[in-house]
Amino acid sequence: MSRTFYVSTPIYYINDVPHLGSAYTTVAADVLRRYHALRGDDAFFLTGTDEHGLKIQRAAEERGIASQALADDVSRIFEETWPQLGCAPNDFVRTSSERHKRGVQELWKRIADRGDIYLGHYEGLYCVGCEGYYTEKELEQPGNVCPIHKKPAEVVKEESYFFRLSNYGERLLRFYEEHPTFVEPEGRMNEVKSFVASGLQDLSVSRTTFNWGVPVPGDPRHVMYVWFDALSNYWTALQEPSKHARYWPPTVHLVGKDILRFHAVYWPAFLMAAGFSDAELPKKVLAHGFLTYGGHKMSKSLRNTVSPVALAEAVSPSVGVDVVRYCLMRSISFGNDGDFSIDDVLSRYGTDLGNTFGNLLHRIHPFAGETLAPANDGPLEADLRAAARTAARAAAEAFDASSPTRALEAIWLGLMAANAYIDKAAPWSARKHGDEARVAAIVTAMAETLEAYTVMVAPVMPKVAELMRAQLGLEALTPAIGRDAWPFETPTRVPESKLVKGDPVFPRHDKDVAAALKQQFSPPSEDAKPMNAPAETTTESRPVATTAPAEMKAEISYEDFAKIDLRVGVVVAAERIPRKDRLLSLKVDVGEPAPRSIIAGIALAYTPEEVLGKRIAVLCNLAPRDFGKGLVSHGMLMAASHDSVLKLVAVPDELPPGSPIK
Ligand code: MSP
Repeated sequence: MSRTFYVSTPIYYINDVPHLGSAYTTVAADVLRRYHALRGDDAFFLTGTDEHGLKIQRAAEERGIASQALADDVSRIFEETWPQLGCAPNDFVRTSSERHKRGVQELWKRIADRGDIYLGHYEGLYCVGCEGYYTEKELEQPGNVCPIHKKPAEVVKEESYFFRLSNYGERLLRFYEEHPTFVEPEGRMNEVKSFVASGLQDLSVSRTTFNWGVPVPGDPRHVMYVWFDALSNYWTALQEPSKHARYWPPTVHLVGKDILRFHAVYWPAFLMAAGFSDAELPKKVLAHGFLTYGGHKMSKSLRNTVSPVALAEAVSPSVGVDVVRYCLMRSISFGNDGDFSIDDVLSRYGTDLGNTFGNLLHRIHPFAGETLAPANDGPLEADLRAAARTAARAAAEAFDASSPTRALEAIWLGLMAANAYIDKAAPWSARKHGDEARVAAIVTAMAETLEAYTVMVAPVMPKVAELMRAQLGLEALTPAIGRDAWPFETPTRVPESKLVKGDPVFPRHDKDVAAALKQQFSPPSEDAKPMNAPAETTTESRPVATTAPAEMKAEISYEDFAKIDLRVGVVVAAERIPRKDRLLSLKVDVGEPAPRSIIAGIALAYTPEEVLGKRIAVLCNLAPRDFGKGLVSHGMLMAASHDSVLKLVAVPDELPPGSPIK
């Protein structure tokens, strides 16, 4: 029986353009939808635009146009942008649409009929930027300044309808206890619990000072509070009874950490008040962190300069969209803040995508005959297939836990094993010895394994998956409800099918192109100050350094730091690598049963003899890095540099290998 999977993004404010931050959430939702569709689930992905509120009314007035006209224009941009990033939402909700307005009025009536909405007076502080009320305690003093928008909150005093949020504290806390994974990551669940436990006040849910909103049923002097209006979209999109029966309740709401409270406190409380049972509430609210670009906050100018669609087109006209999707999902692990940059995109394009993935196909093409032979595995092939099965299992677990980053890490471990396989199986040498049966066995095993990988990467890179499949002589993927296409077992290629030679999927960028891309997609100069840049100091208070210190990176939490596994290591073998004059190949004892292979870029600073026996600091849990030609590094040495002098960070002799560095 197929399961349903209903994933949503926040609906985006239309006073902004689609940018890398909103693209991140939308791509993540699309990835999860595609994964579940491949598994045979009945997947539904909802996004849309949040169009009401004072902010939009004011923007329309400034431009001298009607609010609806502004909303129509900007909402269209969002609707047209997502498909250009490979996202295929099943529905797009607009809060100014008639169906949404009918739905949200219905929800209001249900709550009012049950007695949890009443008329009163509101006097307080309101930030138009957030469309949110604040207490003085929550604002920066002096001046009641909004901590997010850095503008003073406005004092508003008006008649208002109130929602009896105070009635729901206990039931919410009970619900969280019984559904401990309702909010993820766990730390965020704790934040929500303590907010609710500290006491909930009734919430003002209507305004009379502007009219760009959904009228309150029976009292059109009032329009609904935008968050009541906006949150309801997840329900109003399913007004058709058959759709509602099929998809309600939502499986996962993807949200930024800034809007967690609305989704994890107000939204379930509204639904409880409208008569929904606990089982009918959304299953999960997954809060992700914020994305910076090259260490810079997503300011207005950055949003305009680094359009995700323009970036995708520039990186590769054929598969750039998939490259951006891959980099967004790979570089920023869900839940944490993360940085994205053109350097990151270019390096992942060349290494992860070109060298490690795309190249696999091109390494077997020269040996492919007219048709693929039946499988004829030896022990190496058994290992190759086992690595693919492990990758598929681990990736599935990660996708099921809504963690595309972890899924990609697992898939790339498998792809690295596939590269190591080709090196060991060496079809070129089998050919040299005239062993064509062995050549055929290698090509077939590799082609069948690559088929499995095209399925695994398809949620993130649907275009790439199809291009590779075409070159493998395979049909396009056609996910269907109830039919699990995830690759665990038999390949689907028809016997005697052919590999089709094609152009590389990720052709190398030549140096000039890469430099031009860097130039074009660097943060604009007004963004040039990185986050947490040290405060400017005068020459009186500080001596002038001869070399400018490296720019400070964005602040990280202790949790981020605790993920790093740094240990004492001892270099037990060291040698140069032919034709790689910057690299040394090392074996480093970090207290494990066998020493690790580490490829270190220190050959210009140290000879193998100088480094042998050194006691050093090693980053042990960095994802393995493939340098090509079977050279994979399983860790990184810590080194510091100044004025082009590079020195390994030394560790005192009394510490045995494997001692943690904290
Ligand atoms: N309209 C509300 C949501 C209503 S949902 C019922 C809203 N809109 S928003 O356009 O301001 O933000 C939408 C989402 O984009 C939020 O989840 C926000 O966290 C996310 N992001 C905005 N900038 C971002 C980054 N730089 N990085 C990651 N996500 C970011 O809030």
